[in-house]
Amino acid sequence: MNSSLFLTLLRRGAMLSAAVLCLGVCPAAESPIRIHTDLTDLLLKVDEQGRLCQSYFGPALQNEQELAMLPPGNEAFATHGPGNQFAPALQMTHPDGNTSLQLVYEKHQTCRLDEGITQTTVSLRDRAYPVEVKLILTAFERENVIKSRTEILHDERGSVTLHAYASSMLRLQAGSYHLTEFSGDWAREANLTETRLTFGKKLLDSPLGTRANMFCSPMFAVALDTPASETNGTVLLGTLAWSGNFRFTFEVDQNNELRILAGINPFASEYPLSPKKVFRTPEFIFTLSTRGIGEASRSLHDWARRHQLKEGEQGRMTLLNNWEATFFDFDEERLCAIMDDAREIGVEMFLLDDGWFGNKHPRHDDTQGLGDWVENREKLPGGIPALTRAAKKRGIRFGLWIEPEMVNPRSLLYEKHPDWILRYPNREACYFRNQLVLDLTNPEVQEFVFGTVDRLMSENPDIAYFKWDCNSPIMNAHSAYLGSEQSRLWVDYVKGLYAVLERIREKYPDLPMMLCSGGGGRTDYGALSYFTEFWPSDNTDPLERIFIQWGYSCFFPLKSLCAHVTNWNRSTSIKFRTDVAMMGKLGFDLVVKKLSPDEIRFVQQALKDYKRLRPTILDGDLYRLVSPYSGQHAALQTVAKDRSQAVLFAYDLNPRYGEPLQPVRPEDLDPDRRYRIREINLMPGESSRLALNDRVLSGDYLMKVGLEIFSTERARSTVVELTAE
Ligand code: DGJ
Repeated sequence: MNSSLFLTLLRRGAMLSAAVLCLGVCPAAESPIRIHTDLTDLLLKVDEQGRLCQSYFGPALQNEQELAMLPPGNEAFATHGPGNQFAPALQMTHPDGNTSLQLVYEKHQTCRLDEGITQTTVSLRDRAYPVEVKLILTAFERENVIKSRTEILHDERGSVTLHAYASSMLRLQAGSYHLTEFSGDWAREANLTETRLTFGKKLLDSPLGTRANMFCSPMFAVALDTPASETNGTVLLGTLAWSGNFRFTFEVDQNNELRILAGINPFASEYPLSPKKVFRTPEFIFTLSTRGIGEASRSLHDWARRHQLKEGEQGRMTLLNNWEATFFDFDEERLCAIMDDAREIGVEMFLLDDGWFGNKHPRHDDTQGLGDWVENREKLPGGIPALTRAAKKRGIRFGLWIEPEMVNPRSLLYEKHPDWILRYPNREACYFRNQLVLDLTNPEVQEFVFGTVDRLMSENPDIAYFKWDCNSPIMNAHSAYLGSEQSRLWVDYVKGLYAVLERIREKYPDLPMMLCSGGGGRTDYGALSYFTEFWPSDNTDPLERIFIQWGYSCFFPLKSLCAHVTNWNRSTSIKFRTDVAMMGKLGFDLVVKKLSPDEIRFVQQALKDYKRLRPTILDGDLYRLVSPYSGQHAALQTVAKDRSQAVLFAYDLNPRYGEPLQPVRPEDLDPDRRYRIREINLMPGESSRLALNDRVLSGDYLMKVGLEIFSTERARSTVVELTAE
């Protein structure tokens, strides 16, 4: 809503509360209900039958007086009931067995939550049953992002059963629709695949529960009329803030109108809702750009850093992880030696991974110990206190791996609390990585999981970071706690998880945490309000990571994307591996002692430069300049908000012999300022091959002529710093 409209409406009867400014409840919506950002309008109107309709969704309209001209459009939140012939956003059975729902507009209210953030609540009700549905839409004006969720409430004689309960329904009208999905598997996450949508339905969904995104992340892009490009075309990016089963339904009807339903996957999840209880759906977050995916991504990045990501506007630590250097095979001495390495190369934290716990069932491999969160006395006689002391002595922070939602059958926890574990009482359990999932619908289990973190923190206040892993999907979907209401499991598990994470965030608001799920098995903005960053993939082969990080960067800011230099694909140079990991939240996970002296000097200098450039890389605007999907090269660039500095990352993957090379043109520099071009991340003694290295050129020249930065060598990379003088 623009400020003039807001003020006009305000004059008609606004209410002031302590922090929130609200417009009076409107008795009827003759004029459109306007959900508005600086660049987008979503307009809702009420038709003659009293139904709420989506009148317009598209680029922001300039002339308020013309809004009345718009036809009402089609139903904005279609339910299963008379008249609807397509997938419903909401479907329920009433206690009398009737399966229909027909919603009409009742009232709406718009509140200004903060500068540039408005929330519109539209109340709908059924004329035949006491059911109320609230559509809650929050618009972030500056960031051009809208969030949509619903609340469902009733006052019937008994429970209603919810069969479908989307967070949002959007309608689009265009000549053609081009869907990009982000799917894959373990170690090949977030691959972009584009499909043209034609008549009928396409579903993107997950039924996996805990490791819900192992095959597909809850995010998509839909481009209108032409396939999506980074810089051109109208494109909608959408993502669901839910760390469990999700479902996006894309349905093209006989008039070529596209409906997009986004929400929890109701698969095996018919939800009983008691009278007067509120069912709240998760937020669907979306942004519409008329200038391609690049602009849409930057909108989401800004929004996430300001409003969603834990510690979104704070710094991030570089780290050395021991996982791939030791796996389960370590003791205190070996870890202290790794901490020496951490100090030597210049990272800010040492992260101790899996294998530090369990005594009766020591965690020497992945078959046992999960659930017994007590230091293994043999490996770590001094416990975690000795390790945090050792880290402090070396001037670095200490981080710890946990996987508190899981249990191995060989553990004390399993022996003591068999009823806390999800599995069928009358069937053989099915294992994934030799483990089972704890029943987070059960408040006692929630207490245990919260208590695990809380105890570790109170006994070791110097723990500066957690890596929270989650390696198994829900393979045995039965909760002893839920009794005869098993279909609540998939939803209530996530609610239980959020209840735990909420308490952790409340008690430890500044504690950075990495979200990990056997790689990128959990990558959603619901979890990321409790986590500062996530582990996109166990695959750290730099050639693969270019694709994986490219995919995730469409939705998540680089500061949330952990990227480690490891020994995956050791045939590539340490420079290439570092150059790829630097395009994210940089860390290392390798045996430093096996690096040559030159490699160590390189890493030390790269870390110094990374720390210096970190604000530009992590908080700047991201431009994906050359896609690895379109050839054998990739280039990305981040630009400081004030355009005083940019960092350009260029990668040659597997170029053809004698391939003609194109210059890379940076974007969003100030055309009138002059930038010094400086190649960084050179090996000791190596001189830059960049023709313009150390020259000073205008932003205008650089953006129009570009830099000859690509080569025909395999797995070669160049990182360039552009600093305004
Ligand atoms: C899976 C994670 O993705 C890895 O980084 C590592 O933490 C292992 N789990 C430890 O078991």
